[in-house]
Amino acid sequence: MAFINENYLKLPGSYLFAEIARRVNAFKEVNPSADVIRLGIGDVTLPLPQVSIEAMHKAVDEMAVKETFRGYGPEQGYDFLIEAIREANYTSRGLKVDSDEIFVSDGSKSDCANIQEIFGLDNVVAIPDPVYPVYLDTNVMAGRTGELGADGHFAGVSYLPCTAESGFAPSMPEGHVDMIYLCSPNNPTGTTLSREQLEAWVAYARKEKAVILYDSAYAAYITEDNVPRSIYEIEGAREVAIEFRSFSKTAGFTGTRCGYTVVPKELMAYTKNGEARDLRSLWNRRHTTKFNGTPYIIQRGAAAIYTKEGQAQIKELVGYYMENARIIREGLTSAGLTCFGGVNAPYIWLQTPNNMPSWDFFNKLLSEANIVGTPGAGFGSCGEGYFRLTAFGDRENTLRAVERFKNLKL
Ligand code: MLT
Repeated sequence: MAFINENYLKLPGSYLFAEIARRVNAFKEVNPSADVIRLGIGDVTLPLPQVSIEAMHKAVDEMAVKETFRGYGPEQGYDFLIEAIREANYTSRGLKVDSDEIFVSDGSKSDCANIQEIFGLDNVVAIPDPVYPVYLDTNVMAGRTGELGADGHFAGVSYLPCTAESGFAPSMPEGHVDMIYLCSPNNPTGTTLSREQLEAWVAYARKEKAVILYDSAYAAYITEDNVPRSIYEIEGAREVAIEFRSFSKTAGFTGTRCGYTVVPKELMAYTKNGEARDLRSLWNRRHTTKFNGTPYIIQRGAAAIYTKEGQAQIKELVGYYMENARIIREGLTSAGLTCFGGVNAPYIWLQTPNNMPSWDFFNKLLSEANIVGTPGAGFGSCGEGYFRLTAFGDRENTLRAVERFKNLKL
């Protein structure tokens, strides 16, 4: 008899975006002619940058010739991509990150999900609420939590409420925690953590010997100069933080898949006997054992964004989505809604009208305006009363969605 991992049974329903897709499909079945505008999952709509397309075409041609064909590559990524990442995002910004601290992958969703494997099951996990659901769900799957309570919280997790009063910055844990997930620019609230706030988190982690798992997948969307792009801008962060970055939103790679994780050599965690072990070696062991590397063709496409031309093209791409964000934020505000985010992130986080429960608002918006968004409650119980819209739609649909909002009876 094979036994299942019963931790999976603790999870309610389906993964958030799978549930939304299911509801939208059910709606479409009953209303086949409905002109549905999708501002739910944060999936990009513009094509890949031309530099990436050209680099990938060239790489395909290389694969067709015996002399330039590539089989397995280094699991951690090819040097040409690692060095380009290192120079553009760290060295040129005065930040120390070594080549062997960068691990290229098939995207930061997988890395954020897999990273918990190198940590002990007894660690107390601190998770902002609301938050990208992958952090919590994967810790539940691993057995790092108890059961789900009536309050929508899993036993044993230290939830860090993010409220409008604090600009949606997670509050500090009440007691000791071992692993801390932070996401800035934030999914779903679209807000960012300031230098001072990050300094406080790094200080906490150093004091508690905790590890910060810092998801910075939306760093390319930061428009304000004083907002940190990387946690390594904070002194001491190399001793306590792992950073996740992605090409998905930066360069339209949601379907192409490429991301990377930085694990500094100074970063330690401990055996039960109190012996310090470096997490980079553990992650290297996991990565090389379970992953055979991002395809060469994809890595060539990713590396191309670091050329001068590539940088100009992704600036344009990000600028397009951020103009959508402005259109949504200003349009909805003028329609009387209270909106957050959308300045340093491609997400607008709005308060549901009349305190409507967020799944009710989802149904109302879908049935009355044929717009798909993401209910705040799907990101955690503190997300109740809020709703997320993505700026990744195309311009025409974004404008049409805002018009529909203005005509919606709130
Ligand atoms: C989202 O909509 O939150 C994101 O697209 C999900 C992801 O990046 O995996």
